[in-house]
Amino acid sequence: MVKSFKLLGLLITLTTLLQALTVLASDASSNASKVLPIHSDFVSVDLRNKFILQGSPFLFNGFNSYWMMSVADNPSDMHKISDVFSQAASAGLTVCRTWAFSDGGPGALQISPGVYDEKVFQALDFVIAEARRNKIYLILSLVNNYKDYGGRAQYVQWARDAGEAVNGEDDFYINPVVKQYYKNHVMKILTRKNTISKVVYKDDPTIMAWELINEPRCQIDPSGKTLDAWVREMAAYAKSIDEGHLLEIGMEGFYGDSRPEKKTFNHGIQVGTDFISSHLVPQIDFATIHAYPDLWFPEQNDTAQIAFAREWMRSHWDDARTILNKPLVLAEFGKSKKDPGYTVHGRDMYMSSIYEDIYGFAMNGGTFGGGLVWQVFGEGMESYYDGYEIVFSQNLSTNVVIIKQSQVMAVLSHHLRTNQEEEKNGDEEMKNKKNDEVKT
Ligand SMILES: *[C@@H]1O[C@H](CO)[C@@H](O)[C@H](O)[C@H]1NC(C)=O
Ligand SMILES: *[C@@H]1O[C@H](CO)[C@@H](O)[C@H](O)[C@H]1NC(C)=O
Ligand SMILES: *[C@@H]1O[C@H](CO)[C@@H](O)[C@H](O)[C@H]1NC(C)=O
Repeated sequence: MVKSFKLLGLLITLTTLLQALTVLASDASSNASKVLPIHSDFVSVDLRNKFILQGSPFLFNGFNSYWMMSVADNPSDMHKISDVFSQAASAGLTVCRTWAFSDGGPGALQISPGVYDEKVFQALDFVIAEARRNKIYLILSLVNNYKDYGGRAQYVQWARDAGEAVNGEDDFYINPVVKQYYKNHVMKILTRKNTISKVVYKDDPTIMAWELINEPRCQIDPSGKTLDAWVREMAAYAKSIDEGHLLEIGMEGFYGDSRPEKKTFNHGIQVGTDFISSHLVPQIDFATIHAYPDLWFPEQNDTAQIAFAREWMRSHWDDARTILNKPLVLAEFGKSKKDPGYTVHGRDMYMSSIYEDIYGFAMNGGTFGGGLVWQVFGEGMESYYDGYEIVFSQNLSTNVVIIKQSQVMAVLSHHLRTNQEEEKNGDEEMKNKKNDEVKT
């Protein structure tokens, strides 16, 4: 185990070196403008449905730490953000998903519609600056489906307070006043100028993607059409402000009316989303799924839960390649200490199994970009624990599982890069041949 790790480490050092050399060699001669995004430091998506960074396939291992901004708001806790980013970077993690919202209530970023707490905003500035320092890319979510940190319920309440005739939380998706509040928030975040880095958020390559809403659900319309219309409107709006960044929805993956035959994968869960039709919206750049068989099917044993997660990933990976033509990310998964029969070993086995599947899917063309485990904490954050907590310095066996995944995904990125260059050279040879034929 230890030996193979050292070997892998050596291999990675060598491949990284090789990668650096290849970049130097290829920049002068080849014309990669087709795959290069507007800013090559931005994570982008290419025509083969892969994530691309600086002209190369970008496969990653990542994590969730939703709490970053709120914790950074307390000066004596700010070091926890730096600690977690630097520990994550040491574990080879390159993507972090976190909240760029906190609506109403104590410590809110958005105190009331359009009114922001500058101190909390500076905490978010700090999170982004620290991520950049540790070479970690961020996925920033813009609102919550749930009541935690305000969410849809807070937006609807604000409209009610302003005299709007709103009923339930699902009016979030249809009431024009609420929709305008949300758009104003999107505008505010995307055009924010970071007080530390002086970079406007929409110009900051540290941000890998915006997420419209964490785990959207809409109980008033099980078909998924209501949410679909909201995604269309908001995706177009976000892209009208910021074309350079990737955009995703934040969905869990449940199927809706556009593909009734796929609903069997929902195993009876109905949350008013249509994974396929919403992800077909042109401004949405990649698809996400979450996998919580432990929450969704608590009565099932570990074997059955792992089997579900595998089928869930495979089904959506198929969709991503064959219907959506977009990359896919497993944006949340984890195993809770609160699950019956939980053991540390059991969690490590569960995570390893998910990681192996991600690797297996990613190997086949790179359309599966990576997974983001839920979730990582720093030391001394017990009050935040939700059962899924991973503390790198305390949960060493889990840390090893994570490092291993980071390493194999990095090696795979390199292999895909090499293949891509061979294909490109192949294309060029074909072109030259054709030119020759034309000439003769
Ligand atoms: C690179 O591609 C661009 C756009 O297709 C073209 O204008 C340019 O001449 C190419 N440069 C080289 C060196 O082939
Ligand atoms: C787990 O549950 C499945 C049915 O859902 C059953 O077939 C299998 O034997 C169970 N495995 C264990 C180890 O209990
Ligand atoms: C992580 O480590 C802490 C401290 O040793 C321990 O209390 C906790 O149970 C571990 N968590 C998990 C999920 O294994």
